[in-house]
Amino acid sequence: MNRALPSSMPRPGTVLLFHVRLAAVTPGAVAGLRAWLSPDERSRHERFLDAGAALEFVTGRALLRSRLAALAGTDASAWAIGAGTHGRPFAVGPAGAPTVSFNLSHTRGRVVLAVGHRDELGVDVEALDRRVDVLAVAHRYFSADEVRALHALPATLHRERFLTLWTLKEAYLKARGVGLGLPLGAFGFSFRGGRARVRFEAPIVDDPAAWCFATLDLDAPHRVAVAQRGRALHVVAMPVPLETLAGLPSPAGAV
Ligand SMILES: CC(C)(COP(=O)(O)OP(=O)(O)OC[C@H]1O[C@@H](n2cnc3c(N)ncnc32)[C@H](O)[C@@H]1OP(=O)(O)O)[C@@H](O)C(=O)NCCC(=O)NCCS
Repeated sequence: MNRALPSSMPRPGTVLLFHVRLAAVTPGAVAGLRAWLSPDERSRHERFLDAGAALEFVTGRALLRSRLAALAGTDASAWAIGAGTHGRPFAVGPAGAPTVSFNLSHTRGRVVLAVGHRDELGVDVEALDRRVDVLAVAHRYFSADEVRALHALPATLHRERFLTLWTLKEAYLKARGVGLGLPLGAFGFSFRGGRARVRFEAPIVDDPAAWCFATLDLDAPHRVAVAQRGRALHVVAMPVPLETLAGLPSPAGAV
């Protein structure tokens, strides 16, 4: 295990953000990742038709189980991972294990895991070089205020603002755990002093002051947003080398 990784739960208000870069992966690495999984998760992994999606899934679950074990000081297999009504995964530990809230996200080349204390915690990661028709998608899914603010920016900044908004929206939806059950245009983000603030409109009934948001960039480059219900949010991001997770020797300098 990587000694730099924490071995106890974060303090309330702090979210640990573990991230893994997915590069060329050997069959030995996949076997090492699968070793963390439950029998059900291994079956699910075998059913993926797309190799990239399969790798993201097995890496996400290996990361989750390895961190639950390390943070709680238990065996990884002692945790049951279930899914709520809308598919949101939750973890139940052995007797005496702490209550852990988490959320996973993956995209081409990267898997991220947010771990905290609050039930309502969401994370999203997107590649900044992702090909997307920014204005068309924004007009379709974003709030009127978000679209206006996007148009007010120079064209060179459109993509970056779009991905910031996209990840924030996704992180909020994931924190609520209802998937696309909430209308995307009925909540929107604005920015002051580098901080994201949310505004809700009918039919969403929620309190903007009850939420904290953070965005950050990982190398590669990937943008991440974290949403958590609460008064404070401090995100501590740390890389987990794929080789470490898969139980293989790390090449020098690899993360
Ligand atoms: C399923 C959804 C929760 C996230 O999907 P996504 O963006 O494709 O995928 P991500 O990689 O960020 O997240 C997937 C992970 O979220 C978790 N997840 C699944 N359902 C979830 C839910 N209802 N709530 C929170 N997390 C959920 C799972 O851990 C899943 O990974 P796993 O199956 O490997 O364990 C949902 O929001 C969705 O369908 N989004 C579609 C994308 C979209 O239109 N976004 C608009 C943003 S403007």
